[in-house]
Amino acid sequence: MVSDVYDEDRRPLVHVAADADALGARLAAAFVDAAQRIIIERPFFVVLPGGNSPMPFFDRLASDYRHELPWDRVLFAWADERWVPASDRASNFAQARRGLFNPLGLDVRQVACPVPTELSAPGAAAEEYERRLRDVWAMSDGRPDWVLLGIGEDGHTASLFPGMRVDTGAWVVAVEDSPKPPPQRVTMTWTLLRRSRQLHIVATGQAKAVAVREARQAASDPVRFPLHGARRCEGEVHWWLDRAAAGEGDQRG
Ligand code: 6PG
Repeated sequence: MVSDVYDEDRRPLVHVAADADALGARLAAAFVDAAQRIIIERPFFVVLPGGNSPMPFFDRLASDYRHELPWDRVLFAWADERWVPASDRASNFAQARRGLFNPLGLDVRQVACPVPTELSAPGAAAEEYERRLRDVWAMSDGRPDWVLLGIGEDGHTASLFPGMRVDTGAWVVAVEDSPKPPPQRVTMTWTLLRRSRQLHIVATGQAKAVAVREARQAASDPVRFPLHGARRCEGEVHWWLDRAAAGEGDQRG
């Protein structure tokens, strides 16, 4: 059972499902719907998060929608990457490869624009990643079609952490002291993320309920609450929550 909140004032749409699996199913359906409209004309440009939250979404795409899209017309990039080799289990790219690309039988060289973690340092990788994104997204006037972000219990999103001052002149920056391991990371900034045609934020579990509430309802303070950057998004903003993250139902503990 899913309840949707539609807002005619162009504020975020909120979709609440009973659990993470039901949410993943709805999110996958929304993804395929958006992709089908664009793919007729050009590639569909997607930005993925790291973490565990996208896993039910990946599962659904790889099972229910396997034959629904020309998958080689979807190009994936990452909102952030951990500074580990691409082969490391902790890599966000590796996680999408395991959860989505391999099950779909996709050639990663064709469908992925990963953060180049093989370079010497996060700063160099951030610059090079931005350059590659500008190249590949030239066909969509330099912006992504569909961005998915997670949220941490502390309110971080991508690798934009509370209290962090970010260079707003750059699309992508290096992070050297992430409070969530590993400390070195590469992340997109809101300068880029806010341009997305559609921005989707996913959260499941009661541990995220406070962060979600603050991100949605607190008075604007983008340094303290990184997801307040979404309030300046040029496109649609959607929240995808299970009942626990939405603060509904059993509030034990
Ligand atoms: C990362 C992330 C990060 C993640 C949140 C939520 O690489 O760590 O991109 O922003 O999305 O921490 O993580 P979970 O989905 O695992 O809770």
